[in-house]
Amino acid sequence: DVIDVRPLTSSGLFTYDPGFVSTAACESKITYIDGANGILLHGGYPIEQLAEHSDYLEVCYLLLNGELPTPEQKETFINTIKNHTMVHEQMRNFFNGFRRDAHPMAIMVGVVGALSAFYHDSLDINDAHHREVCAYRLIAKMPTIAAMCYKYSIGQPFMYPKNGLDYAENFLQMMFGNPCEEYVANPIIAKAMDRIFLLHADHEQNASTSTVRLAGSSGANPFACISSGIAALWGPAHGGANEAVLTMLEEIGDESNIDEFILRAKDPDDNFRLMGFGHRVYRNFDPRAKVMKQTCDEVLAELNISDPLLKIAKRLEQIALEDEYFVKRKLYPNVDFYSGIILKAIGIPTNMFTVIFALSRTIGWISHWSEFHSSPNKIGRPRQLYTGSKKRDYPAK
Ligand code: ACO
Repeated sequence: DVIDVRPLTSSGLFTYDPGFVSTAACESKITYIDGANGILLHGGYPIEQLAEHSDYLEVCYLLLNGELPTPEQKETFINTIKNHTMVHEQMRNFFNGFRRDAHPMAIMVGVVGALSAFYHDSLDINDAHHREVCAYRLIAKMPTIAAMCYKYSIGQPFMYPKNGLDYAENFLQMMFGNPCEEYVANPIIAKAMDRIFLLHADHEQNASTSTVRLAGSSGANPFACISSGIAALWGPAHGGANEAVLTMLEEIGDESNIDEFILRAKDPDDNFRLMGFGHRVYRNFDPRAKVMKQTCDEVLAELNISDPLLKIAKRLEQIALEDEYFVKRKLYPNVDFYSGIILKAIGIPTNMFTVIFALSRTIGWISHWSEFHSSPNKIGRPRQLYTGSKKRDYPAK
């Protein structure tokens, strides 16, 4: 049905690759993925080692700078982030414009985009220091904004950040604390939270990161670019999958209904998919999912949680790992399958799951945005294969 590809090919080789399955759009030094062997490296360091020995803010430094920090550099970095944790007081009013029952991702898209209207003193994209300041502001303010979304939805007062706490503890106190009493985070939960942040920090050119890079390629405001990444992340095929996993588990409701859902997932005429299974790049176990599964087991054991939905999840995992349909297509549980279960155990409401993914992934987005602007670049401009009408004359009246 293609009518004429000459205008496309006249400028050189033209490839048609729906979904960018095998087209690299950029060079990057930040993250390496070997999907066939289930390998994920940040700055050359395996994700399993980072999860065990490092922490989220150290990984933020690594993604931004390409090297792990010295102890002095780490301390300076953490203190710099702490300097930026508050949001402009006028932003509190901004929240009042939203309905209380708005999805927190809808609020995130708006509020993070609105940062561009508040922080416009360091926006020279060709200045490395300005780019760093944008990154510091985003890393520091995302937990504050995310927690404000939650507090707004339940009608409780916003909690200010407490800079004496570490990154994950501070997020938990802004989520679950209140002005009437002191909130002390359970160290197991704080550690699990930090690990969830770390495991989501970056994943090279996925849909949301590519969106941020593409938006950034026009020279757009960085906060607006991050807002476009949040919008792309929201969909259930991407970051929205962690929320969709829990919704699916609730829909299944009982172990006796699992077979029916497995049959639906395998039916080519049914659009239903087993949420939290499959990945575009990994054709092997997602290495983040392995660490997440271990963290999930630790958290559930430590908190002594017995939840019927978790039983359904375990059973589903087992069936999918044995069923020929899933085995043949290499559909393993992905990172979102286990993160949803941990977040539920921690007490995070389901509609906040993708917000937590967005908070964690902000460092990946801004690192790629910064990398784009620190090297010779071109505006992104994908082409298309035109399948519409041939040239024709406007009908005579
Ligand atoms: N359940 C059932 N079947 C599936 C699933 C699933 N979750 N995922 C893929 N398949 C099947 C497809 O129907 C297709 O079957 P076919 O060959 O018989 O037609 C085959 O596996 C290949 O699927 P594609 O859609 O071509 O794979 P793609 O790489 O485009 O999609 C994706 C990857 C979007 C992640 C997909 O596996 C999916 O929708 N998973 C569920 C949503 C999810 O968990 N997303 C989170 C991804 S991880 C992240 O973003 C952090």
